[in-house]
Amino acid sequence: MAEKLQAAKWGAQAHVGEVGKLPVAFPRTMGPNALKYVQEVVDSGLTCDMMGRFEKAFAEALGVKHCIGTPGCTPALHVLALACGFEPGDEIIVSPVTDYGTVQGWIAEGIIPVFADTEPGTINFCPETIAACITSRTRAILCVHMTGLINDMDGINALAKKHGLLVFEDVCQAVFGEYKGRVAGTLADAACFSFDAEKTMGSDTGGCMVTNNTELYERARYMGQSRGAVMQPHFGRLHADIGYAYRMPGCTAAICLAQLEIVREQVAHRDAMVRALYRKLAEIPGITPLPIPEHTNVYSCWMPGFNIESGMFTCSTEAFASQLAEAGIPGAGMGEYYLMPAALTCLHEKVAESRYPYCMPPASHKHTYSSESCPVASEFLKTFIRWSTFCEKYQPEHVDLAAQLVAEVADRNRV
Ligand SMILES: Cc1ncc(COP(=O)(O)O)c(C=O)c1O
Repeated sequence: MAEKLQAAKWGAQAHVGEVGKLPVAFPRTMGPNALKYVQEVVDSGLTCDMMGRFEKAFAEALGVKHCIGTPGCTPALHVLALACGFEPGDEIIVSPVTDYGTVQGWIAEGIIPVFADTEPGTINFCPETIAACITSRTRAILCVHMTGLINDMDGINALAKKHGLLVFEDVCQAVFGEYKGRVAGTLADAACFSFDAEKTMGSDTGGCMVTNNTELYERARYMGQSRGAVMQPHFGRLHADIGYAYRMPGCTAAICLAQLEIVREQVAHRDAMVRALYRKLAEIPGITPLPIPEHTNVYSCWMPGFNIESGMFTCSTEAFASQLAEAGIPGAGMGEYYLMPAALTCLHEKVAESRYPYCMPPASHKHTYSSESCPVASEFLKTFIRWSTFCEKYQPEHVDLAAQLVAEVADRNRV
């Protein structure tokens, strides 16, 4: 009989049962003003425009012109997709190792995600692998700063300029991380963030889109929040376009505002702790922590990880990860499901049968999605083990303990 599948969980529910010897993200550390700001929303009878207040504060914190608050990053990226106004069959080149939220909005608008492979030895793609995917239908490049490691944005922006493409950032896992001294989210034409409960600026289920491009911003507000409606004198709302109402709820905005006040200090601490952790992990034979490129001068790490060297251990990667979880690293596991071309089973049949927008035209060529679409990323993930999430509660003694637990499991399973 077929195995009964369980619906995926999210937020705190996804982390229930993750116990061990190290700090866990939940319950989250809350900004001291959280209750005060939520109270303001209630006391004002929902008139205090907390979403607007958060948007202004976040734009100022990043140093960008515009911010649009949304109920998460999945909707923020959908807002961006709507604002771009690409045609069905147009292509967006996307990092292959990411979350479904990165691509949902584009798929919904008939845009074809094309997954460029990763750079060997890393979890992010690179200008060379992206260049190999450019076609006459490519419109944009969407860079996911996976685990908090920033992409080679100068190289990617230069490539995009050469081909007349837009560049976007998915900053969900790199909130207030820095690239060559510039903050993530300001390195391209627009960027989207998640403030989901488990994320670095954990604030219930918020998110936002930021940009310096006023035209893109205005269209994003119109299509993503005003539902594509315009006001007709003597008549009222005219629904000129099929738009959406992805507005950040006031109470979420209140919590986001409070979390924004404490997040930068937490990020600096995460950066110090994860660097110390990776230094210790690198000393263990057979263990290779994710390489931190020099350009990532602040590693706002949401999810630390390392690879085990195949041939050096008697057990599988999965068994290694579950032994780590048993030993006390909460939620240690593999991240193979992050390989988006393999995980997007909702598209597999559509693509195989060349159904719209995968028919030609509008598609430029025959697309496929599977682990073979990105063989380098696929091989990388076969030996990759990650913490379910990192958290701001780590102290140097936790770093020591985490490295010790990895070393013990490694020694127990050595060939
Ligand atoms: C890289 C990335 N993009 C997008 C998302 C979706 O964000 P949200 O849960 O706020 O919709 C996530 C969430 O895990 C993510 O990690």
